[in-house]
Amino acid sequence: MTLPDIPSLTRRIGQEIFARVGSGPVPFSSDWLDDRLMGLTMANEAVKLQLFRFVDVLPQLDSPADIVRHLREYFHEARDHLPTWIKAALYLLPSSGPPAALLAWFTRFSARRLARKFIAGSNIPEAIRAVERLRQRGLTFTVDILGEATLTEIEAEQAQAETIQLIRGLSAGVTDWREKPIIDRDEFGPLARVNVSVKLSALYSQFDPIDPDGTSREVRSRLRPILRAARENRAFVNFDMEQYAYKDTTLQIFREVLTEPEFRDWSDVGIAIQAYLRDTENDIPNLAEWAKKRGTPVWVRLVKGAYWDYESVMARQSGWPVPVWAEKWQSDAAYERLTAFLIEHRRWLRPAFASHNIRSLSHAMALAWELPPGSIEIQMLYGMADPIKDVLVGMGQRVRVYTPYGELLPGMAYLVRRLLENTANDSFLRAGFVEGVAPAKLLRDPVELGRLRRAT
Ligand code: 2OP
Repeated sequence: MTLPDIPSLTRRIGQEIFARVGSGPVPFSSDWLDDRLMGLTMANEAVKLQLFRFVDVLPQLDSPADIVRHLREYFHEARDHLPTWIKAALYLLPSSGPPAALLAWFTRFSARRLARKFIAGSNIPEAIRAVERLRQRGLTFTVDILGEATLTEIEAEQAQAETIQLIRGLSAGVTDWREKPIIDRDEFGPLARVNVSVKLSALYSQFDPIDPDGTSREVRSRLRPILRAARENRAFVNFDMEQYAYKDTTLQIFREVLTEPEFRDWSDVGIAIQAYLRDTENDIPNLAEWAKKRGTPVWVRLVKGAYWDYESVMARQSGWPVPVWAEKWQSDAAYERLTAFLIEHRRWLRPAFASHNIRSLSHAMALAWELPPGSIEIQMLYGMADPIKDVLVGMGQRVRVYTPYGELLPGMAYLVRRLLENTANDSFLRAGFVEGVAPAKLLRDPVELGRLRRAT
C-alpha cells in the first residue's frame, strides 16, 4: 500500500468541499438588514468597535432614553466612518416619548435577532427542538448553557442545577431517536447521544488561578454531581477552554477530577484545547501522557481559540508576554501540527477538529483518509457555515454542532466573540464567501503562507 500524499490529498479534499458548497452565501443568512449591518462593520474597524461595545452594554440598559443616548454616543465616536444616511439618522433619533420607546424596542429586537443566529433558544425545550432539527440534517450536537464568569455563588449553584436538568431533559428524549450510524457510532461502538459543554468559570464565583488547588477543590465539588448525572444517563461532558489566565487551572481540574476513582474509567469526557496558544505544543503531549497513565482515553476538541483579541489586549496592557501566536498563519500551522499529533495518538486522545476553515479540516480529513470511518470528528458552531456542515455530512463525516442556549444577558460575551470572529480581517469564511478569494489560495499550506509573508 502506498501512503497518500498528504499535501495533494488535502488540496483535493478542499477543492471537493468548495465545489460542493458552490457559491451561495455561507456565513450569514441573506437577510438584507443583516448583510448591510455586517458589511458596514467589516468595512470599518472604528464602526465595528463601537457597534460591539454597544451590543455589549445593551442588555444592561433599562430605559428607552438610556438606549437612545448610548446609541447616539457610541456611534457619534465613529461618525466619520459612517455612510451619510446613518449619520443623518443619528441626528434625527428621538430621545423621549413613544418614538424613543419604539426605537429602543427596535434596537433590542435587532440585537435579539442577531443573537438568535448563534444562540439556539432561551430554554431547555427550545434547545431540544434545535438539536432535533440538527439530527434531521444528519448533524449531531453538544449543548452549552450560556454563562461564564459567574459573580455569585447563587448563580454558580443555578448553573450547576441547570446543567443537571439539561442532561436529564435531553436524555429523556434520546431513546426515541432513530439511530443514525454516521453520528451515533464510531469504530469502537455506540457514542453518547447526549453531549453537553461546560465552562468552569460558570460553576464557581471565586475561580482564581492564583489559588489553583483551592479553586480545583471547589470546582470539583460542583462538577461531581454533573458528571454523575452524565454517567448515569450515558451523556458526554466536554470542558470548554476560556481565557489564557484560566488555562492551567482548567487543565488541572480536568485531570484531577478524572483521576478520582469514581471517574477514572470513564471515557465520555473531553476538553477543548486552543491551537493559538504557544503553550499548547507542550500541553497536548502532557495530556496524552496523563491519559495513558489514567488508562482510559479522553477526547480533545482542537480549536484555534476565540479570545485572540482579548488575550492580545490583556497581555499588552499588563506588560506580559503575549500567549497567542501573533499571526493567523502561525495558529493555522500549529493547528495542523497538533492535528497530526492527535490523529497519531488517538488511542488516548480521541480527536475532534473544531474549525470553519476548509483548509484545516481538509488536512485532518486527509490524515484520516485510510482510517476507519468515524475515527475523527468535525465540530462547528451553531449558526455558522451551515452549507459546509451539510457538505461534510454528505461526504460521510460526523459533524457535531456546538449549540448554545440561554438568555441574552449571559449570552452577550458569547455573541460578541462570534461577531468578532465573523468580521475579523483574517476570517476564513469572510475571505472565501464574502470576498470571493479563490479556493486554491485559501487551501495553501499555512507554512508556505508564512514563508511568503516573510519574503515580502
Ligand atoms: C466560545 O464560547 C465556542 O466555546 C467557544 O466562544
